[in-house]
Amino acid sequence: MFTNKKKIALVGTGMVGMSFAYAALNQNLCDELVLIDINEQRARGEAMDLNHGIAFSPASTKIYAGNYSDCKDADIVVICAGASQRQPSQSRLELLKGNYEIFRKIVPQVTESGFEGIFIVATNPVDIMTRITCELSGFKAEKVIGTGTTLDTARLRYLLGEYFEVDPRNIHAYVIGEHGDSEFVPWSQALIAVKPICDVLSDNSKSYFMEDLDRISREVRTAAHEIIAAKKATYYGIGMAIVRVARAVLENENSVLTVSVRLRGEYGGKKDVFLGNPAIIGSEGAKRMLELKLTPSEQKYLENSYNILNDTYKSIL
Ligand code: LAC
Repeated sequence: MFTNKKKIALVGTGMVGMSFAYAALNQNLCDELVLIDINEQRARGEAMDLNHGIAFSPASTKIYAGNYSDCKDADIVVICAGASQRQPSQSRLELLKGNYEIFRKIVPQVTESGFEGIFIVATNPVDIMTRITCELSGFKAEKVIGTGTTLDTARLRYLLGEYFEVDPRNIHAYVIGEHGDSEFVPWSQALIAVKPICDVLSDNSKSYFMEDLDRISREVRTAAHEIIAAKKATYYGIGMAIVRVARAVLENENSVLTVSVRLRGEYGGKKDVFLGNPAIIGSEGAKRMLELKLTPSEQKYLENSYNILNDTYKSIL
């Protein structure tokens, strides 16, 4: 399936989809990018607009508007189609019913093309939309990845980097669970280089405080609401997060990213639900996940996310 030429099909050319496409072009992600949208005229206009920027980009990506048959030989299908939050007070879960109907039309058309690659889903509520994509496609769970808490984890590392004055690349801390209001940071598993953040706090008790870490995790959880209040939508951050996940697949990186993956008995026998958790991402998708050693209170947070995602998924069946 994987030839030297790397091809991505993008379904949904709204702000999130096009932020991904724009970042993909500027980061030279792939050789071919096909834009698919129910509004074909919009997809054509977006393709023209991006093509006019190729002369100024590091890539010579072939970009065109197409249809579902173009998914056939794609390495990755990225789905960004659907409604997004419009009000800061709206939760991601409220989008479910409408986006489920949209996915019931999209996913069968992708699989009917003969597509055998990896799905990357970004549409919210992303954990549930990823589970729906897995069910509708009949693909193995490894081949269906949601953006999960990759962006939340990036937001966390950025804020912790500022707080501790350490390069975020040396901060190994994750946001896990639902990409939404029940997500949380398992602080017991957070490190600066190889030193647990809890030890950094106790060794520097006059400089760093748990209350500040709680404030930072709150800021991460409410970041999307704040951005929506300020500019009505979020798109650049998630667009770049999709590029990161797609590159890990295309380059067979085996990178650890907190994507949305299906639980297979981890965390005390939890199954079926997709949620954000560190997973190893390569050309076969999310082939393995890392089960974290959670404290009893962190386990409760995880179970809360799990229950919310499972109950909400079941409510639409
Ligand atoms: C956000 C959207 C992608 O967190 O849910 O920005």
